[in-house]
Amino acid sequence: MNVAQIATTRHTCKAFDPTRKIPAAVMNDLRTVLRFAPASVNSQPWHFVVGASDEGKAKIVATLAGGFAYNAPKAQNCSHLVVLCARTDLGEAHLAAVLAQEDADGRFATPEAKAGQNTSRSFYVGLHRDNQDLDVWIDRQIYIALGTLLQAAGALGVDACPMEGFDVAAVNAALGLGEKGLRAVVMVALGYRGEGDFNAKLPKSRLPEAAVFTDI
Ligand SMILES: Cc1cc2nc3c(=O)[nH]c(=O)nc-3n(C[C@H](O)[C@H](O)[C@H](O)COP(=O)(O)O)c2cc1C
Repeated sequence: MNVAQIATTRHTCKAFDPTRKIPAAVMNDLRTVLRFAPASVNSQPWHFVVGASDEGKAKIVATLAGGFAYNAPKAQNCSHLVVLCARTDLGEAHLAAVLAQEDADGRFATPEAKAGQNTSRSFYVGLHRDNQDLDVWIDRQIYIALGTLLQAAGALGVDACPMEGFDVAAVNAALGLGEKGLRAVVMVALGYRGEGDFNAKLPKSRLPEAAVFTDI
């Protein structure tokens, strides 16, 4: 399938087959996709919690109550449940870790190049901190990872359900994210469609091309 075929045939899976698990090699590819997602100034302001066991997923399922109960069966029956988390801050330690990794990976020919990268990244982080929109800026990077994950899952024949329908504070508490300097942003249930996935049988629906493009 080419990229357009993937985009037009992937769908949000509304019910998973609880007996089917994603093979480890496929899951490793999806983990690579997440780790290598692009982010502004390579800030990588994320962490991914992956629930593969029933116990791990149950911690999250238990929070999916009230208005979010409709997402509980997906979280329970999927093969892997990924919580895409944001760092609550991009402090010196994180920026130093990213810079050291870039150095170790051979990105800098000179000390000046390394210093320049550090200055550029710190400038953008400082700018958004000053603008008091650092959380929003970080969230944008998380959603890039979400988009790449959904497209990659489609390419690999893995069904997915992105989910914003959860209580962020409850998931943060259930996974102890606050203590780790993290907060949940969005989740993705991954696996294979099962009985009751009504969305698999529905036609895709999007606004017409003329409504969403302006060619100049
Ligand atoms: C950020 C985001 C959050 C979403 N949250 C939920 C959710 O909580 N539960 C759900 O069943 N679907 C959720 N969806 C699925 C959307 O409703 C779906 O992507 C949209 O209707 C387009 O359908 P398609 O993905 O099948 O093409 C979410 C999608 C996105 C991108």
